Amino acid sequence: MKLLITGGAGFIGSNFIRHILKNYQEDSIINFDKLTYAGNLENLKEIESDKRYSFIKGDVTDVNAVKDACKGVDAVIHFAAESHVDRSIHSGHEFIHTNVFGTQVIIDVVHELKIPKMILISTDEVYGDIESPNKSKDGDAFKPSNPYSASKAGAESLAIAAHRTHEVPIMITRSTNNYGFYHFPEKLLPLFITNLLDNKKVPLYDGGTQIRDWLYVEDNCKAVDLVLRKGSIGEAYDIAPENDPEVTNGEITKMILAILNKGEDMIEPVEGLRPGHDQRYAVDSSKIRSLGWKPSVSLKQGLEQTIQWYQDNRVWWENVKTGDYQEYYKKHYGN
Ligand code: NAD
Ligand code: DAU
Repeated sequence: MKLLITGGAGFIGSNFIRHILKNYQEDSIINFDKLTYAGNLENLKEIESDKRYSFIKGDVTDVNAVKDACKGVDAVIHFAAESHVDRSIHSGHEFIHTNVFGTQVIIDVVHELKIPKMILISTDEVYGDIESPNKSKDGDAFKPSNPYSASKAGAESLAIAAHRTHEVPIMITRSTNNYGFYHFPEKLLPLFITNLLDNKKVPLYDGGTQIRDWLYVEDNCKAVDLVLRKGSIGEAYDIAPENDPEVTNGEITKMILAILNKGEDMIEPVEGLRPGHDQRYAVDSSKIRSLGWKPSVSLKQGLEQTIQWYQDNRVWWENVKTGDYQEYYKKHYGN
């Protein structure tokens, strides 16, 4: 298959590209990415000379550029998005432009060029938070809590409508929080790991009682791959490990501290940086499991592998944590 990946220079997109090139000799990939602050071609260094891979610097809101890039492809996998909740709280505009308008552009091009398949990469956040022990499941109403998740719910609504109205061949995945290699260090896990490797404290929000279901990125890539090859058009698949007992942010922080031999005095409790903070996400992943998917690592194994990667790849994250990143850090966390 010839695949067009949007947002392939970001965290999950770059892992997905590596996954496809490693596992399917006959597939080729066009990576279409604007290279925002979160896009980094260093994430793809090891495959950039692979003849099956090519890169186009482009914006998903630019119809002509998307149309040119999509000619002759068998499927579009749409990862590109503004993805950080905290940034969306500072300003939602870019989130609406890229995540909502940009998704409509992709849908229109898939429709016009009669591309056989599109996958919209969405998120469990569209459901909003859910009380324990309940789980959100496909078909539940969307109840997004912040501008990021609202923009993703908007994108999904457009995709669902396009499938129903125009029979655009769309599938959707909604995964829980990914973690792993090349994760941009503004999100909880890579921020905390890299801060600790630099002997800096970690800013734990709102008492650390919130619950996320941490999914190893390679397992998400396998799930998206399965949907691409075996999923049914018009379906949405919720992806979650659901294996490990649920952990709070405070508990996962302590797991990282233990692996790195650091004390709890490295936790800096902070309040008020995430108004509307969702308490708990949990989704029912039975539909993707019915296609044969299951996670391959426990949270402990995945965390150990991830922390080892950040220890071995200091140059990668030190380069990322410069310039604009420093400005964002000061603006968001203060000094
Ligand atoms: P990321 O922020 O690491 O990467 C986003 C990529 O999209 C970057 O390479 C960026 O340059 C590119 N991009 C942004 N705007 C663009 C535009 N206008 N045109 C073209 N490219 C653009 O994001 P991620 O964490 O890899 O997330 C990828 C997708 O998965 C997103 O759609 C996100 O909503 C979804 N998702 C992420 C998680 C998670 O835990 N990270 C969980 C569930 C769903
Ligand atoms: O659930 C899927 C979503 O997971 C994706 O759709 C998003 O793109 C992705 O960014 C992620 O969103 P979260 O808001 O859950 O991830 P984040 O790493 O930003 O925060 C995880 C939890 O950690 C959340 O409860 C807030 C808390 N947190 C976060 C940061 C950045 C802290 O306590 N301190 C921090 O500095």
